[in-house]
Amino acid sequence: MRYAGMRYAGMGHAGNEPTRRAAVLGLAGAALAAATRAVPAQADFALELLPSLRSRAQASGIKYGCAGAAPIVQQDPILQEKIAAEANIFIPEGHLKWEFTEPRPNEFDFAGPDSIVDFAARHDMIMHGHTLVWYAAIPDWVARLMTAADARRALERHIGTVVSRYRGKVWAWDVVNEPIEPKDSLDNGYRNSIWQRLLGIDHVDLAFRLARAADPATPLCLNEYGFEYTTATSQSRRADILALLQKLRDRNTPIDCFGLQSHLDCHRTFDRKELTAFLRSVVGLGYGLMITELDVNDAEIPGNEATRDAAVARHAAEYLDIVLSVARPRSVSTWGLSDRSTWMRQYFKRADGKPLRPLPLDANLDRKPLWSVLAKYI
Ligand code: G3I
Repeated sequence: MRYAGMRYAGMGHAGNEPTRRAAVLGLAGAALAAATRAVPAQADFALELLPSLRSRAQASGIKYGCAGAAPIVQQDPILQEKIAAEANIFIPEGHLKWEFTEPRPNEFDFAGPDSIVDFAARHDMIMHGHTLVWYAAIPDWVARLMTAADARRALERHIGTVVSRYRGKVWAWDVVNEPIEPKDSLDNGYRNSIWQRLLGIDHVDLAFRLARAADPATPLCLNEYGFEYTTATSQSRRADILALLQKLRDRNTPIDCFGLQSHLDCHRTFDRKELTAFLRSVVGLGYGLMITELDVNDAEIPGNEATRDAAVARHAAEYLDIVLSVARPRSVSTWGLSDRSTWMRQYFKRADGKPLRPLPLDANLDRKPLWSVLAKYI
């Protein structure tokens, strides 16, 4: 099974726009309005002079991270400089995934993640480990595993090898990524992955136990997306992941935190009440929170760049306000730093043909209103 970004296909249009806007504006205070005002989409020199996001971690206790390609893969030294200037945490967007780290059975390739560990060490950053067990980005030999015993052996070797190698060099591990997909129509909303087919839901418990055995100290996370909105999809995802988190607690599975991916859709309406209740339940089960992949999809937002940037910033502010009203996440990470390099531009297209602007810096690496929102909350 191949990742094809298909789960995002068919997302609807903005729905009841006046209601949505009223809800957003009702929640945004004066300070927020100032931080997210519509500014011309060009360098704001006052903004550029403010202290970096990484410098705020000391006071707030919340580290800022961003994803990106390994320096040996994406040779964009200016972007790398900006990442080093802004972030405490660097997340390999692809190169810790199984298809790269173990492309053939027991043949490991760590060139990409090693270059990130070096880069991080040179800049006083730390790598976030993404990800060990996923339905996607697996090599063909994994997709063709046939028996439970083979799947178990593969997990034992892979997790043991990768986690041991980076022991002490990782901020947290996304041990299991995206185990829920209600659209797959399996019981309990479990995703129809190779792991689920061969091992059942026990594969989640197994993966965490293997990771804990290989690294007793690093926080281990389960990472998921899609809980934020008033949609039926968000509603079933909240219920399904909560039931799984409860089940894992009942089994004493060694999980420390829950990663809220936070790929947000700017045109949708947050379900503040249900999202708050959901987050309280997660925290009540003893999971720490991390925001792991924040970005804001503006494919359905009409208007010029300044209008869109302001809408993106307001949307993220409303979200952070909800999450932080429940608990302080250990880290807030965005899935990329600059609009010049974002998966969203590949996977989503606007009707006007303009590229998406989902991240804190624009394609020229200048800070945007979304950066100001992060600076306010981190
Ligand atoms: O493997 C080929 C490589 O051989 C070729 O040189 C290159 C040329 O473009 O393409 C490579 O594959 C790409 C791969 O990333 C590695 O760069 C795929 O086409 C591309 O679809 C793949 O996309 C990544 C995707 O995960 C699948 O791994 C995105 O960049 C990455 O942003 C996305 O990240 C996911 C998180 O892991 C989990 N949460 C959702 C998030 C966004 O979808």
